[in-house]
Amino acid sequence: MISYKELGLVNTKEMFAKAVKGGYAIPAFNFNTMEQMQAIVQAAVETKSPVIMQVSKGARNYANGTILRNLAKGAVEYAKELGCENPEIVLHLDHGDSFEICKECIDNGFSSVMIDGSHLPYEENVALAKKVVEYAHQYDVTVEAELGVLAGVEDEVCAAESHYTKPEEVIDFATRTGCDSLAISIGTSHGAHKFTPEQCTLVNGVLVPPPLAFDILAEIEAKLPGFPIVLHGSSSVPQEEVETINKYGGALKAAIGIPEDQLRQASKSAVCKINIDSDSRLAMTAAVRKYLAENPSHFDPRQYLKPARDNMKKMYIHKIVNVLGSDNKLG
Ligand code: G3H
Ligand code: 13P
Ligand code: ZN
Repeated sequence: MISYKELGLVNTKEMFAKAVKGGYAIPAFNFNTMEQMQAIVQAAVETKSPVIMQVSKGARNYANGTILRNLAKGAVEYAKELGCENPEIVLHLDHGDSFEICKECIDNGFSSVMIDGSHLPYEENVALAKKVVEYAHQYDVTVEAELGVLAGVEDEVCAAESHYTKPEEVIDFATRTGCDSLAISIGTSHGAHKFTPEQCTLVNGVLVPPPLAFDILAEIEAKLPGFPIVLHGSSSVPQEEVETINKYGGALKAAIGIPEDQLRQASKSAVCKINIDSDSRLAMTAAVRKYLAENPSHFDPRQYLKPARDNMKKMYIHKIVNVLGSDNKLG
């Protein structure tokens, strides 16, 4: 058993309580590589922000769970080396799909896990989440569960259509499972193609998607006052990154995300964790494509991964400061 406490990590309990009270959200950035970890830590330290580093099943398959755990341990030490005395870093399992994977992560240094039973019938979702919570809480590990289904096209997270969370179910679900936070479905979705152009309205030459269901969010908040709410699928898909990718040989068609002003609005509510993965992928790919197109004779990965890391860091800082509002919230 490796406790996250030995690694210098923290769970989400206090972090979320403060975020809900303070009207901001904690960034939950997915990571698969050392460069993403470095960029996340640099951004969190420079902005004095707590941060959740999250690992999907796909990330574990790609990079190996042991390596990712040690990268998270390294993240804590790196943050201290960069001058942050008491970093608040969570290592979180994103979209755990079984009790076994959650247990394995809890036993191996994760401070928080998500059990995603959102695709299951209600009673099965309750039973699975409750089982994970009972195990996790013995080790002071916090648990995120999900009600409602997000549409998505990611490798490991796939549903053809979304179903909004039913506010009438949330009290029963939170009470019976004992979960620490609840991911809800109010119109976000995974990946870089969240809406078709036909679903959007053209405003000053920009395609604006339909707004998130803030009425459902408000109903959920009214039922569970102060309870930590999580938004998945919250990349904004910056059009300048899409344009750079396409300018330098990419072929991303109609990539549309969640407008940042809506995420800013959500952050001020009980939404206290916002998941961002695709924007990091776009920032990395745009920088790598540009660098390699402009320097066709270069072949040292450090040459093109450095601008990729810098571009991700810039994006993370922007999210923390201008969208989620989690800067200067350490301590
Ligand atoms: O929610 C999904 C995340 O973006 C993780 O994606 O399963 O391809 O690593 P992934
Ligand atoms: P995006 O694809 O919008 O970045 O969402 C990521 C996510 O929800 C990870 O769980
Ligand atoms: Zn997700």
